[in-house]
Amino acid sequence: MVKKEQTDKRVSETQVEMTEIVLPNDANILGNVLGGKVMHLTDIACAIAAHRHCRRPVVTAAMDSLDFRHPIKVGELIIIKASVNRVFKTSMECGAKVFSENLGTGERKHTSSAYLTFVALDENKLPMQVNPVVPETEDEKRRWQGAEIRREFRMRQKALLRKASQK
Ligand SMILES: CC(C)(COP(=O)(O)OP(=O)(O)OC[C@H]1O[C@@H](n2cnc3c(N)ncnc32)[C@H](O)[C@@H]1OP(=O)(O)O)[C@@H](O)C(=O)NCCC(=O)NCCS
Repeated sequence: MVKKEQTDKRVSETQVEMTEIVLPNDANILGNVLGGKVMHLTDIACAIAAHRHCRRPVVTAAMDSLDFRHPIKVGELIIIKASVNRVFKTSMECGAKVFSENLGTGERKHTSSAYLTFVALDENKLPMQVNPVVPETEDEKRRWQGAEIRREFRMRQKALLRKASQK
């Protein structure tokens, strides 16, 4: 593993907001955005937040469950807000919140939430240590603390799946 080369950053410096309009090509036969499109945009928004934090290329190591609370319709905006929640050693947990916005009325709905883990890579494409991210607001501190519990859960799940596949 390569030594870290970056400086500590605030969570706010990693924040990303992406906006797209939902077009017919992104939708199912009911006129609602495809789940895969939401996953794709969420992955990209979180990857930018992680890359912005460590200033290194990153790969997605894992995406936790993604819930869909409300449909987003063709013609509405899809808005993804993402940031780095916490850095471990070479990995970073990013959180994303997805919103719909009706352009006519301005009504916004929180439609999905997700947590993704990214790993920073060095010049040899090997995992590389990353500097911590500094949470400042109450929400950022809550997410930072929650990330530790979610990581334990992920690691336990990974170990269990590995064990099951060896049987
Ligand atoms: C992610 C990847 C770099 C991890 O490599 P590895 O050889 O398992 O490396 P390590 O075991 O040292 O793990 C590196 C970090 O990833 C984390 N990690 C690995 N698998 C993970 C998982 N399923 N969930 C969450 N974190 C994970 C480890 O906890 C470790 O974090 P830490 O350094 O902060 O403690 C490697 O599996 C990979 O390249 N995967 C393909 C990535 C890709 O192509 N993504 C695109 C989507 S398909």
